[in-house]
Amino acid sequence: MTPRSFLLTPELADHVRASSEPLDEVAADLVAETAAMAERGEAPATFQIAVEQGVLMQLLTRALGVRRALEIGTFTGFSALCIARGLPADGSLVCLDRSEEWTAVARRYWERAGVADRIDLRLGNALDTLRAMSEEPVLDLAFVDADKTGYRDYVEELYPRVRQNGVVLLDNTLRGGRVLAPESDDDHAVVALNAALAADPRWETVLLPLADGLTLLRRR
Ligand SMILES: C[S@@+](CC[C@H](N)C(=O)[O-])C[C@H]1O[C@@H](n2cnc3c(N)ncnc32)[C@H](O)[C@@H]1O
Repeated sequence: MTPRSFLLTPELADHVRASSEPLDEVAADLVAETAAMAERGEAPATFQIAVEQGVLMQLLTRALGVRRALEIGTFTGFSALCIARGLPADGSLVCLDRSEEWTAVARRYWERAGVADRIDLRLGNALDTLRAMSEEPVLDLAFVDADKTGYRDYVEELYPRVRQNGVVLLDNTLRGGRVLAPESDDDHAVVALNAALAADPRWETVLLPLADGLTLLRRR
């Protein structure tokens, strides 16, 4: 199983999932394979987004009519699979990650789901790759789920590349509740970012208490 929100009891988390669109066989197999990797110590158990968050991201991608999307932090590919499935057949998703090993798993599932031709995976340091991309405001949606101390730079670099009314999603913005008592550099970085975004007139901002906290930014 993917991590459950620290805000929900196990029973409520089950209810949330039972009351949402179920995963199909490909997505369920990807979730199971990632969980098995975590059990063998081959990947962190907390990396993959929650199932209900993936369902929301697919729904949002489709409902917002997203054609061009970008993801920072792909891992074994579940969040990218959800975004890609919400795109039209001629839509595109650029995925940034530095792990060849984890994204090799992602590529297998994207093939199986029939969305591999919509996804352009670029390996390397995500900030360098992002900075090398044209500053045209062409992105309809971006999802950020990589190194937390990098979020501020990612948001700055995304700003000129996201169209007006485009949406940026930031994962883990509640840090398991540690935003109230930050312990690590990652926690402190997210606390500072949350405060900065709430006061930033360039974005309309809401932090949703979904999973580990999901911030939605709309470019004004
Ligand atoms: C939390 S996982 C992403 C989980 C993914 N969104 C999912 O739902 O399965 C974070 C990923 O970010 C990647 N990452 C972290 N820092 C990075 C960086 N500076 N450049 C590129 N990739 C990075 C890691 O390799 C890892 O795969």
